[in-house]
Amino acid sequence: MVWWFSVPKVIFGEDALTTELEQLSGKNAFILTDKVVMGFGFPERISEILHDHQWSVAIWDNAEPDPRVSSVKSAAEAMRRFSTDTIIAVGGGSVMDTAKAAWVLYEHPEIQLEAITPLQPLDLRHKARLVCIPTTAGTGSEATKAVVIREDQTGRKFATNNAELCPDIAILEPGFVKGLPKELTAYTGLDALTHAVEAYVSVWKNDFSDACTLKTVQMVFEWLPKSVADLTDLQAREKMLIAADLAGMSFSNSQVALGHSLGHSLGSVLRVQHGLAVGLSLPLTIEYNCKDKPETAKLYAELAALVGIKKADPELAARAFAKKIRQLQASVGFPTSLKKAGVSEKDFNDGLDKLVQYAMMDSSITMNPRDIDSGGIRKMYEYMYSGTPVDF
Ligand SMILES: NC(=O)c1ccc[n+]([C@@H]2O[C@H](COP(=O)([O-])OP(=O)(O)OC[C@H]3O[C@@H](n4cnc5c(N)ncnc54)[C@H](O)[C@@H]3O)[C@@H](O)[C@H]2O)c1
Ligand SMILES: [Fe+2]
Repeated sequence: MVWWFSVPKVIFGEDALTTELEQLSGKNAFILTDKVVMGFGFPERISEILHDHQWSVAIWDNAEPDPRVSSVKSAAEAMRRFSTDTIIAVGGGSVMDTAKAAWVLYEHPEIQLEAITPLQPLDLRHKARLVCIPTTAGTGSEATKAVVIREDQTGRKFATNNAELCPDIAILEPGFVKGLPKELTAYTGLDALTHAVEAYVSVWKNDFSDACTLKTVQMVFEWLPKSVADLTDLQAREKMLIAADLAGMSFSNSQVALGHSLGHSLGSVLRVQHGLAVGLSLPLTIEYNCKDKPETAKLYAELAALVGIKKADPELAARAFAKKIRQLQASVGFPTSLKKAGVSEKDFNDGLDKLVQYAMMDSSITMNPRDIDSGGIRKMYEYMYSGTPVDF
């Protein structure tokens, strides 16, 4: 089988933003963002640099968290009105995914977003290119061919990917994540760790994605606590941006697994923030996947060794790794259960059937190294609600 390792051109380091924008070619820049990021003035800063270089600039700041198809369609319509040749997404994963999906509809209005698959060509880049500048660290969407959108009618999140969706350019500007509050720093940092760990055990893992995972795991354990402890620590911010980007490269070229199926469903049904949802799932899925699966346990043991866990038995090492992740979470103020995350018992029980149904429909579940049925998914959610380590 032939494999492709797709990554964007990545610009980082001092003056990355200005240097790259100054040499960007094109005429009509469409800056896509949301109201929160707009409030920080980042889109204006980009716009000023581009204006100095004779660009026409339009700013669209209506992106919503976990974007719906309808929101994507209005972004595509605005792109069409402006005849953009360069889309610049400035924001978190929701903004970047809005930009990716709207770009598809801008170039090909007839495409159904739900029908995008990894195999079918999208035939993009006739009208525009995509530049992504993340303001969370993060989803790594600036480095991935993945996109996650919500259906309007059901609220269900669906994830898909296509190599053409990998942005052309990713600019990592630590100043843009400086304002990220503690909670979101922790949530989005755990998303990056989940990408890296799941990519390492996914059935599509490969040597290239493995390399990105190994560095990410080391970096998240070292720099996430520092990012949360001192929100002004620019070095920690930059390291977490890089870690999130590497994790994006990793899972984009491997895949995520059960943790993301559980997480997408939590986002759909209970509107749990993505990083919180997948971060809560991560240790439980490690415990589930390593049981009676020596090959998978060995992979987790390799990651465990990176954070100082030395155990001869791979399954014990994997379980110790799950525990270590819980300790990391505790150190950055991350909740240890859905209950502690503020989900009421009533909402949880009312939503449980849908949670199970949507998790089973999520594409990432097929990449998990151990099979699971709907009964197992239900149990996972129950354990997650109370914060109990998985023993089945
Ligand atoms: N396509 C991919 O590769 C990929 C990967 C992982 C997650 N996702 C998707 O991305 C979305 C989650 O993205 P996210 O975790 O970045 O959150 P987000 O983009 O949904 O943003 C969360 C909140 O943080 C705000 N925010 C953004 N930057 C900020 C900053 N610097 N300071 C303060 N607030 C800021 C946003 O306005 C929003 O209110 C989910 O829909 C998830 O499914 C996509
Ligand atoms: Fe994620």
